[in-house]
Formats: sequence, C-alpha cells, structure tokens
Amino acid sequence: MIARPPPRGWNSGNTFGENISDSLIREMADRMVSDGYRDAGYEYLVIDDCWSLRQRSADGKLVPDPAKFPHGMKAVADYVHSKGLKFGMYSCAGVRTCAGYPSSYDHEFVDAQTFADWGVDFLKYDFCNFPASGDCKTRYLTMSMALKATGREILFSACNWGQQEPGQWMRQIGAHMYRSTGDIFDNFKSFTDIAKSQMDKLHMSGSYCFNDMDMLTVGMCGKGNVGLGKVCTYEEYRLQFTLWCLCGVPLMMGADLRSLDAAYKDLLQNKALLRINQDEECRAPYLVRRDCVIVTENGTWRQIPDSAFILLRHLSDHEFALFYANLADERAEVHGEFVDMGLPVTSGVALDMTDVFTGEHIGPVTDFYNPRIQGHDCKLYLCKLVKTHA
Ligand code: GLA
Repeated sequence: MIARPPPRGWNSGNTFGENISDSLIREMADRMVSDGYRDAGYEYLVIDDCWSLRQRSADGKLVPDPAKFPHGMKAVADYVHSKGLKFGMYSCAGVRTCAGYPSSYDHEFVDAQTFADWGVDFLKYDFCNFPASGDCKTRYLTMSMALKATGREILFSACNWGQQEPGQWMRQIGAHMYRSTGDIFDNFKSFTDIAKSQMDKLHMSGSYCFNDMDMLTVGMCGKGNVGLGKVCTYEEYRLQFTLWCLCGVPLMMGADLRSLDAAYKDLLQNKALLRINQDEECRAPYLVRRDCVIVTENGTWRQIPDSAFILLRHLSDHEFALFYANLADERAEVHGEFVDMGLPVTSGVALDMTDVFTGEHIGPVTDFYNPRIQGHDCKLYLCKLVKTHA
C-alpha cells in the first residue's frame, strides 16, 4: 500500500532544471541518507524533466541522455535503492514535455513498462503540449492503467496544474497525488496564494490520493529556476513548511541538499511538524478565519485586509494543531475567538496550548487568543482540551 500518509521526498526540477546527471542524483541520494532526510521519512528521490534524448529509439522507447546518465537509468535506480530510498522519474501526458523532450501521449503502455523495467517507484506526469483533441481525464487514466499493467507498485503523481478540478476525479482514476495549481515560485506571495487557493479543496485530499500544492522551496534562497529576485526570510520559509505540514499535502523538497543551511535542514526535519503532516487521520485543516490583522499604535488601531489566517486541524489522540499567520508586512495582532473554533464562552472548556516553535507551554486558555506576530510570520500551537470546571 503506498501513499497512506502524504508522500515525501526530493525533486530535481526546482533547483536543477536540465542540469541533472547520474553523479548529481547519486550525490543527492547520499545526502538524503547522511544528513538524516531518509530517516526523517523523505523516501522518494525524483528526477524531473530533461533526462532523456530528444528522440525515441528505433523501437519507440524513451532513452536516457548518455551524456547525463552514461550508465543508463537502471544503474541510477539500483544506486538509489541501495541507499534505502525509492526512485522517481518524470514524463508528460502531452506530445512533448514542458522542456520539449519526448513524452508519453500515445506511448503510455510502452513508457510505463520502460519505467518499471528500470525499477521506477514514482512517476510525475506533467501536462504540457497536450493535444487539443485529447481528453485530459482519459489520458491520465490511461497512464494510471499503464502503470498498473506493469505489475510494479508505482506512485502516480499526476501534475495537470489543477485543470478540470482534479480533486473531483484524480482519486477515481488511481492517482496518488495531483498538482492542484500552477508552478510554485520561491516567493512569499506565490506560496501563500497557493495555500489560500486550496482551502476549500483540501477536504478532497486524503489517504491514497493527496492534493499536491507543489514542491517546497524551503531553503532555496533565490537559487535555481523558480526564484523571483527577492530571497525569502527564515520566517517565510517556516510559514511555508508549516502550512504544507498542516494541510497534510506531499512534502517534496526542492533545494540543493548539498548546500542547505543547517537551519533549513532542521526545519525540514522538524519532528513536531512532520508528525502533524503524517497524522494518521489525514484530516484537512478547518479554516477558522481569513480576514484582517489588527495593528495598534499610540492608542489607535487599524485593520489590514486579507492578512489574518487561522487554521485548526483535528489530529489523532484528541490533539489539535492551531495555526495563526500574519500575512501583512508589519507586526500585528491576529485575533482568534474560540467560539469560531467550536468553543463558546459557555463551554467550560479551555485549550491547553504549547508553542511548537519555542516549546513554551502556554497553559489552558479560554475564550480567545490574540498573539502578536511579526509580518510574514506564523505561530503554531499543539492543543488539548481541558475542562475549566467540574
Ligand atoms: C511544469 C511542471 C513543473 C516542472 C516543469 C518541468 O512546469 O508543472 O513542476 O515539472 O514543468 O519542465
């Protein structure tokens, strides 16, 4: 059984684009082991676009570019497997991949078998250059069937960028995860917009078929293909990772693990956050509030629209994760009324709160909690319910 909790791993696309090779993938596999990512649960190492020759072989098969992969793909897969990791590859439902390489439209069954013969465990399946006459759902189903027909267990990571409401049919056609948006960029607005756009869709995500909000940019710091000039702060990346964990979506790292700052390695391996991401009940968070933060200055106050974001997630074992974000640029209060979390003043029940980032036990809180938060930063609390009177 695959993809019972959200899949986790690393993908070459965001940082390396076409600059991929046998040695790069082996180095990344080594890093995933030596730096603790594998043991933290990141198990898939995925090669994105640009791995093949520009033409198929005479017998119609995809061919790894010998300049990039001189020992062929099975050798890469064997190495990745020898490290206790799983191996992922990439193709596309159109007639060419996004970078213009041959792709699997009308070649689904032969390509799926090629991947299986190499020992592939995960297929990311993109949507560029899809023929106008083609039917998107049927073609994703065709590749799903082709993968199943190989007899090998291969995680099907469908990537049609949210076209045709994938939450409505990707589970039914056998996908294990599906991209729900356009590409992420290494920028605060890009990833907060992605998360906001999925709030009313996450209830369709769960065990065996997850909404994929795209690869993480945590720690990329402007390097690679998806930077937009301004480098994210640590707090912005922490907000991204916290949101992806809280939303229970796949965690596919995108940064160069060989040069990742220790702070980001620690963030990506944060046990409390990963435990929330992998919680066995796989519930989506409940949107408590999305409106204004309050800035108080010299006895006056003002509101900044569409900047407060509060989510409450039910976890197993009577626990809750409570997330407050200040999406505005400046320091502000984010007001959370517990009545909006199902705890009216009359309930006689408090939230016993612990700050996940600092470890501080805040203790039982009733009625409301209004933390002051820096701009572009968040707070996350693990909570239990306690009775305030007998
Ligand atoms: C598309 C996908 C990306 C990446 C590129 C590769 O844009 O959405 O995730 O795979 O193609 O060319």
